[in-house]
This record gives sequence, C-alpha cells and structure tokens, in this order.
Amino acid sequence: MSDWSAIEALPFPKLVDLFDGDPERLSRFSLDLAGLHFDWSKTHLTADAVAAFARLAEAQGLAKRRDALFAGEHVNVTEDRPVTHTHERGEGDAADVDTARRFHERMRALIDAIEADALGPVRHILHVGIGGSALGPDLLVDALGRADKRYDVAIVSNIDGVALEDAFARFDPAATLLLVASKTFTTTETMTNAASVLSWMEEHGVADPYGRVIALTAAPDKAVEWGVDDTRVLPFAEGVGGRYSLWSSIGFPAAIALGWERFAELLAGAAEMDRHFREAPLERNAPALAAFADLYYTQVRHAETRAPFAYDVRLRLLPPYLQQLEMESNGKGVTVDGQPVGRPTAAIAWGGVGTDAQHAVFQLLHQGTHLVPVEFIACIEAGDTLAPDHHRQLLLNAFAQGAALMKGKQADDPARSYEGNRPSSTVLLDALTPRALGALIAFYEHRVFVNGTLLGINSFDQFGVELGKEMAKAAAKGGGDFDPSTTDLIRRAGLN
Ligand code: F6P
Repeated sequence: MSDWSAIEALPFPKLVDLFDGDPERLSRFSLDLAGLHFDWSKTHLTADAVAAFARLAEAQGLAKRRDALFAGEHVNVTEDRPVTHTHERGEGDAADVDTARRFHERMRALIDAIEADALGPVRHILHVGIGGSALGPDLLVDALGRADKRYDVAIVSNIDGVALEDAFARFDPAATLLLVASKTFTTTETMTNAASVLSWMEEHGVADPYGRVIALTAAPDKAVEWGVDDTRVLPFAEGVGGRYSLWSSIGFPAAIALGWERFAELLAGAAEMDRHFREAPLERNAPALAAFADLYYTQVRHAETRAPFAYDVRLRLLPPYLQQLEMESNGKGVTVDGQPVGRPTAAIAWGGVGTDAQHAVFQLLHQGTHLVPVEFIACIEAGDTLAPDHHRQLLLNAFAQGAALMKGKQADDPARSYEGNRPSSTVLLDALTPRALGALIAFYEHRVFVNGTLLGINSFDQFGVELGKEMAKAAAKGGGDFDPSTTDLIRRAGLN
C-alpha cells in the first residue's frame, strides 16, 4: 500500500470508543510546552494513524525539509528563496540569525529615539499595511496591548477610505507617527493609504510629514525613493514571507506599544516552539500531530473547512490571522514539481470568537451535515478583572462544547438528536503572555509547513493573488480585456 492509501484506509471510529479502549488516550494525545497545553484526544488520531502519517512524513522528507528550512536553504523553490522567519527569533543558520539580530537592533534604537522624543511628540501610531503586513501586528497589539496603553495604535489595511477616516477622527495629526508596512513597498492599498495620511498631516499643518514616517520593508531602496529618510527605514530579510513577518520590523507597532522586552519575550516563546518542532519525535511533536489531524480530516473524511474559535476576546483576531496563514500558504493546486496536486490542500479556515459563535454558528457544528474539525483556544488566566464568574463560565462553555460535539445525544425526536462523534482539539494557554502567544503563533506556522510538506506543495509562495491585482491595475488605467458583465459593472459605477 502506498503511504497515502494507508492513510485513506484509516477508519472513522467513535471518539467515545477510543477513550473507552485506551486509558492512556488523554496523555498520549496531549502535551504541554511553552505555557501551552494541547489536547487532541477528542480527534480521531490513533497510534495507527500517527504511525501512518509518520511513514508519509518520512517518504515526503519532512525532517530533511525542516532542517533545510532552518539552515536557510532555498525551500521556497518557486521564488528561489530561503524561508527565514525562524531566524528572526534566533533559530537557524547563524548568518541569517545575525542579520535578523542587527535589524532588530535598528528597531530597538528607533524605539528608544521615539521614546526620547527625537521625532517630536508621539501619542498616536498609524500603521498602514495589508495582509501579513497588518494581520500579525494587529493581532499582537490587540491581544497584548490592552493592559499598558503606551501609545494609541490604529492599524489600517483597507483601501476603503472609511477605514482611514475612522483613524483620522481619533488621532491628532501633530502627534501621529506613520508606519508604512509593506514587504514589497509597492502594494496599492498601502501606498494609497500612506499618501493620504501624508496629505492629512500636511492639511493639518504638520511641517514635515515625511519626517514622521517610518518604513517597515524588505525593499529599503523603494522606501527611500518614496521619500523616507534612510535612518527611519527598518528593513527585514527577503526570506521572511509576508504572512510570517510579525517577528520582523513588521511587528514594530507591537514592539513600541508593548515595549521591547515584551516583544523579545514573544520572540523567545516562538523560539521555544521552533526548538520543540526540530527536536521532538513526531508522535510527541505539537505541530506535526496537529497537522496529522488536519490531514486526517481533509484527506480521509473530506472535511472542506476547519474552525478555530478563540474563547478569549483578546484573541479575536486570531481566526482572521490564521485564515491568511493557512489559506495563502496551502491553498495551492500544484506540487513543488509543478504537477497537479491531485488531492484537497488547505482546509478553508473560518471560526470566530466564543461564546458569541455558540449563539450564531454552532447549530451547524452540532447538527449540520458538514464535518468541521473545531479548535478551541482559551486561556486559564482571565483577561478581565470582573468577578471570577465571567471567566469561569467562558472556559466551561468552551470545554462543554467540545464534550457535546463528541458525545452527542439521542432523543426520540430526530430534530432534537445530536449524532456526536464530531472532532475538536483544544489549546489552553496558562496565561496570555507574550511568550505563550509567540509559541502559539509559531505552532501554527510549523503546522502549516507540515501540512504543506506532506502534500508536496510550496507553502511559501502566493502567486494566486496576482491575477486579480493585475486586472484591477489594468482597469484603473482605463484598460483591461473584460467580459461583458465586468465591463457593465465598471460602466454602472462610472469608473470608465
Ligand atoms: O497580495 C497578497 C500579499 O502579497 C500578501 O502575501 C502580503 O502579506 C500582502 O499582500 C501585503 O504585501 P506587502 O507587504 O508587500 O505590501
């Protein structure tokens, strides 16, 4: 049997029977590291399934590819580049780690300068960037930046001017620092937003708007050409992919809002996960086990989606962050050799925030006809200071939902029956610290990498986003070869 046919032949046992049949199940399929507790015992992973995936991992050269990634080899084959986000947190090839360290020193020095008022008064930070240049920093600031509000930060991504005007309404132009975050420094949305911020500053009497700009980019020359002074360009390496870039200068708003020490703890937490990923055997390796469960559901049970739910408002931006990480990385149709991949790739990631989601979409999870692997993410330590009851109920709801999905309930009335045997996994953080969040995000990155490697695809390019952008650019110039429907829409909106 080929490695995939062994996997496709894996059974679909009843989860409750798996617990009954193996008193060690919980300890076998849970583990603790870096302030995180992982529990996959309510998934259909079994020792046999893990062994089958481990054989596939061997056949797909997972260990070799993982080592090549950390060694800075060109694992991003379609773009002929290394993949160096782990180097940002000090793990991997010494030269790449050193480059990242030097870039971090520049970030740190600029933060010190801002804090010493060298750039004038700064109370508001307006970060413009999109995709990976927004989702990661937004998640960090929203998750960790509540307790100690050193600066008021707004992260604006959309080219819809409403988003920018909302920030203008809150901010004082004379006390605003503009961060232009773009790996390529060419992205239409970001460059349009950045230009509008400069105009807004100018209109409100800021004498030298360009003097209030910091560029976060892997294309420093373009930033200088655009008008940013070289001393305020914070570069990062080309090998850091957009959706993997929050560890680099793209994380600047988090580093300044949280303070450097907390940003360094975030990097250290991620590095703990990196070391675990490199060293732990596959059957005790968190990113690998999570990816095996993902692949079991996408390849064996044909699940088309997966749903992470953050049972913590501070992590409300985690699901959208994961959407880009997982879908842009693994939503591919061809293998690294350019052959049709021939099987489903990334699950569509959706999800939301508990308990709100329970009162909106959980009906489908419990009784709908789709199989949706659910992931609960929660923190033991409360983020609020209200009476303990809020947090107690929040956590109990998360745990009860997982139990209900698995156990189900039979009733005489079919409409009131729950078939059960619906999988879920849980990630429980001791507390929402920078270290735990860093480890959590790194866990998802490596899980994506394992999924991609076992599928034989390149998780680090994103050519699929280009065509639509090209067509929009052609239309903006009054050109483009459009179908009758699109031509009519352009005409109706008065855009031609
Ligand atoms: O269009 C997709 C994308 O290229 C993402 O991969 C990236 O995170 C985002 O756009 C922003 O790109 P940049 O940082 O170059 O502005």
